[in-house]
Amino acid sequence: MPELGVNIDHVATVRQARGTYEPDPVWAAALAELGGADGITLHLREDRRHILDRDLEILRQTVTVKLNLEMACDEGVVEIACRTKPDQATLVPERREELTTEGGLDVYGQRDRIGHVIGRLRDAGISVSLFLDPEDRQIEAAAELGADAVELHTGRYALARPGADRQKELNIQEAAAAQVRAAGMVLHAGHGLTYHNVKPIAAIEAMHELNIGHSIVARAIMVGFQQAVREMKDLVS
Ligand code: PXP
Repeated sequence: MPELGVNIDHVATVRQARGTYEPDPVWAAALAELGGADGITLHLREDRRHILDRDLEILRQTVTVKLNLEMACDEGVVEIACRTKPDQATLVPERREELTTEGGLDVYGQRDRIGHVIGRLRDAGISVSLFLDPEDRQIEAAAELGADAVELHTGRYALARPGADRQKELNIQEAAAAQVRAAGMVLHAGHGLTYHNVKPIAAIEAMHELNIGHSIVARAIMVGFQQAVREMKDLVS
């Protein structure tokens, strides 16, 4: 049974929309743990659009399950990671104009740079996962560089129409998963997974960790909205 890593970035997105103190992703992480999360995932982006340095510092002290830091191969963030020591770093590509991480890391085309960052994180005692499109040459390059894990980018699967298109993308995920396993790396997956599409991905053999954010935050708003309104109604009336 795969572990669930809960990505709390979008709790911080709501906070940053107002530049206030709430909702606090640190509280969300505690509630996620109470709900059974096996890990807390956060992305310290170079532009600090959601998660802030302060969040990472506090979460490192409060999270009692696996703390997984998504990060770009950016010098400043690598330094912060080596100092803060999350349990795991997931290396992702990052472009300022993107809404979210749009594609996998090009480890095949940037071996030297990524190999150097893997080495620094490993020396700091941090396990390293690479976020990759489900492509042979990317997975091969990850194995050559000695990555501990590969997180398969499930975005195309998630966007595919249910039926033949989705099945085709699932077959691609399954083949890539077999390649990750055969290379002796730990298998993770994430991006775009929802309450409707997660099961076939969770059922892939040896799937160890799924990282899910947007859909959980979206559902939390919906299941909590009625109670929140009722509480405010009580106060104003
Ligand atoms: N995994 C990685 C590497 C990501 O970059 C993201 C998005 O931050 C996720 C998983 C979670 O994606 P989603 O928010 O679509 O569930």
